[in-house]
Amino acid sequence: MTLDPVFLSTAIEAALAAGRIHKRYFRQDAAIQKKGRIDLVTAADLAVERMFRELISARFPTHGVLGEEDATGTQPRESRFRWIIDPVDGTTNFAHGLALFCVSIALEVDGQIVLGVVYDPIADELFTAERGTGARLNGAPIRVTPCAIMEDALLCTGFPYSIREERRRQVDVFAAFLGEAQAVRRLGSAALDLCYVASGRFDGFWEERIHPWDIAAGALIIEEAGGTVSGMAGEPFDAFSGHIAASNGPLHNPILAVIQGARRNG
Ligand code: IPD
Ligand code: CA
Ligand code: CA
Repeated sequence: MTLDPVFLSTAIEAALAAGRIHKRYFRQDAAIQKKGRIDLVTAADLAVERMFRELISARFPTHGVLGEEDATGTQPRESRFRWIIDPVDGTTNFAHGLALFCVSIALEVDGQIVLGVVYDPIADELFTAERGTGARLNGAPIRVTPCAIMEDALLCTGFPYSIREERRRQVDVFAAFLGEAQAVRRLGSAALDLCYVASGRFDGFWEERIHPWDIAAGALIIEEAGGTVSGMAGEPFDAFSGHIAASNGPLHNPILAVIQGARRNG
């Protein structure tokens, strides 16, 4: 299926506009509210999502939008198109003035993610992919690493806001990777983590209890950069399944094996 170029140009326009909003609020002591005990929402999250919903409803009035800050979504039943947005991925970093966050935008057509755009306004890095046409960083093609040896691999993960209720389960897997990989990082923005796998900075990523807006765009960007994405037990990737294992390809089975080993022993 060839995608109308207006969708990618709209996603890029929205991502750059989101970045301008991020920069307006970043390190400005703007209002921070708590959605849960450790789950924050800032004025920037709300302003970016509002801007995005207005843009999509003006330009494509029949399209649905699923966004983190209004997760009930506006999904007209008859629409084949659904945009998935995380207005600020890395909200905890953002709220603490730590410059590791982005906006993540994906487009799903007939149930398949076909376009992904992730923008980090501080580094001015725009990651883009359209299914079947490769992945790019600021317009230049990107590719995953060829690393095939776990001991040489730099991996990344994240922890969900439910971590307090299931610390043991999550930490067992984390600890297992500490014993296998060269090193493991936790940056606090799943969408950027995935783009870093796509662009060869990381060799792999996993996370459980993750939301579609965190991973829909980044997973496509990895696939289009030559990498592999699946569920954490190796099942076909589904952005709505709540878990992801992502890699450069050669390390995919070794990563799944470490997860399975930790689960068996846990
Ligand atoms: C979170 C970040 C974090 C991941 C969490 C996500 P948010 O998204 O992506 O890295 O570990 O699971 O919820 O709340 O900053 O948009
Ligand atoms: Ca997120
Ligand atoms: Ca968010």
